[in-house]
Parts: sequence; structure tokens; C-alpha cells
Amino acid sequence: MNAKISFRDVVKTYPMKDETFVALDHVSLDIADREFVTVVGPSGCGKSTLMSMAAGLVEPGAGEVLVDGRPVTGPGPDRGVIFQQYALFPWLTVRKNVEFGLKLMELPAGERRRRAERAIELVGLSDFADALPKTLSGGMKQRCAIARAYAVNPQVLLMDEPFGALDALTRVQLQDQLLDTWSQEQRTVMFITHDVDEAVYLARRVIVMAARPGRIQQVIDVDLPYPRTEEMRLSPEFGRIRNEVWHAVYHQAPAASAA
Ligand SMILES: Nc1ncnc2c1ncn2[C@@H]1O[C@H](COP(=O)(O)OP(=O)(O)O)[C@@H](O)[C@H]1O
Ligand SMILES: [Mg+2]
Repeated sequence: MNAKISFRDVVKTYPMKDETFVALDHVSLDIADREFVTVVGPSGCGKSTLMSMAAGLVEPGAGEVLVDGRPVTGPGPDRGVIFQQYALFPWLTVRKNVEFGLKLMELPAGERRRRAERAIELVGLSDFADALPKTLSGGMKQRCAIARAYAVNPQVLLMDEPFGALDALTRVQLQDQLLDTWSQEQRTVMFITHDVDEAVYLARRVIVMAARPGRIQQVIDVDLPYPRTEEMRLSPEFGRIRNEVWHAVYHQAPAASAA
């Protein structure tokens, strides 16, 4: 299989007072090149830990995390990471924030400018390119953070509840815009959300995780064609898949190993 990201038998434990806490218990998952997967599951089931391993920010305790068949040893420009909190530099304009990630790539100034311009346009912030973050709404700040990741043009986008704090309308707009760019640029996307509708709308596969210990509970295929449309959200098939995901998340059986 042509896996872009592979988690192989990944274990992560954290020491606790008198026991070890198992954050991830033998998790294996292959994400295909150009696939869009979403990850859902109860709080504390290890979603962020798993993604942080692909980002190169957390090391597995055991097992392997591979990107393009090579073990991840740290962050890199092939993987863009977007968190829920905006993490913008408050003293830099939208344009300078977006260009910042490119500085590390040692691109010529003209190329930096061009890439930043295009990314800012993609997220619909062109009119605010010279604005400071404090003058922007929450949704606009998040667009800026997304533009910063897009500008680097990473092959892989790792997104941890990126739209979680946004109002419903902004969220739907950013979902459609993300799907647009994903289909144009043919990236691989791993997207964590706690919103079941969002998980189904975006993904080709929904990975449902369970907690205590953190593990993959179920993988649910979303057999809806792209491009996804607003009408699809109302279709019986969408409703059926949403119910299946909902059930997998909220009616989780206890771990087989539990006494
Ligand atoms: N650095 C750490 N030290 C101790 N426990 C941690 C650490 N990072 C995460 N955890 C624990 O691991 C579990 C999984 O965390 P996380 O991956 O953030 O879950 P999720 O994103 O699904 O909510 C949680 O119970 C969390 O408290
Ligand atoms: Mg998390």
C-alpha cells in the first residue's frame, strides 16, 4: 500500500504516581497518500498525542511512526501543523505572520511574498493582509494560521481541532475551503475534531478512537463522492454514516483487557 503516514504498533505511556498511564495502546493505522482522514473520540483518548507523533513533536514509546516510509525524527516542512489556538505573532501583520514560516525555508524574498499572497488569497484574507491579529475576529485569526501552513505547501496537513472555537457559519465555510484546496493541491490530511458532522463531511475515512487505554475503536468509510456539497449533509446516506460514527463514539464498549 502506498501509505503516506504509517503508525505501526505505537505505544505511549506516561508515568503516574504508582502506575503507568497508557495514552496509546498498540495503535496501527495507515493513511494513504492524498487521503483525507478525520479522527474522533472522547477527550483524553490520545488523538493529539497520535498526531503530534506524525508532526515529530512527540516520540513514540514503542512502535514506529513513518512518513513516506521513513521514521519521523522531528518536525519538517513536508508536514504543516495547525492547532486549535491560533498561535499568531501579535506584533506581525497577517502577511508577515504567513511569511514567517517561509523564512525558515530560506526562500528568496520575492518567492516568499508570492507564496504568502496566494495563501492569504486562498483563505479570503487579502483585504486584511496588512492588519495586525488583534484587529481580526477569531475566524479571521484562524484563517491566518491556516494560510501560514498552506504557504509552506506541505504534502501533509496535520490539523488538531482547527475549527473547534469558531461559529457554525465560519466553520462550514472553512470546511468547504479546506476541501477545495485539498482537492486542488492533492495533500494528505489528518484532521482531529470532536464534531461528528464535521468528521463525516470532510473525510474519506473516520477513525474512531476510544480511551483508557487510547486505541482505535473502529474505522468507518465515508462512501460519499467529492466534491462534498451542503445538500449531502441532508442525505440519508450522510445521516446513516453520522449515526454509525456517533454510535461508535458514544456507546464504546470497555477495553477488552479491562477486568
Ligand atoms: N506530557 C504528558 N504527561 C502526562 N500525561 C499526558 C501528557 N500528554 C498527554 N497526556 C495524557 O494522555 C492522554 C491523551 O492525551 P491527548 O492525546 O491530549 O488526548 P486527546 O487529544 O484525545 O484529548 C490524556 O489522558 C492526557 O492527560
Ligand atoms: Mg486533543
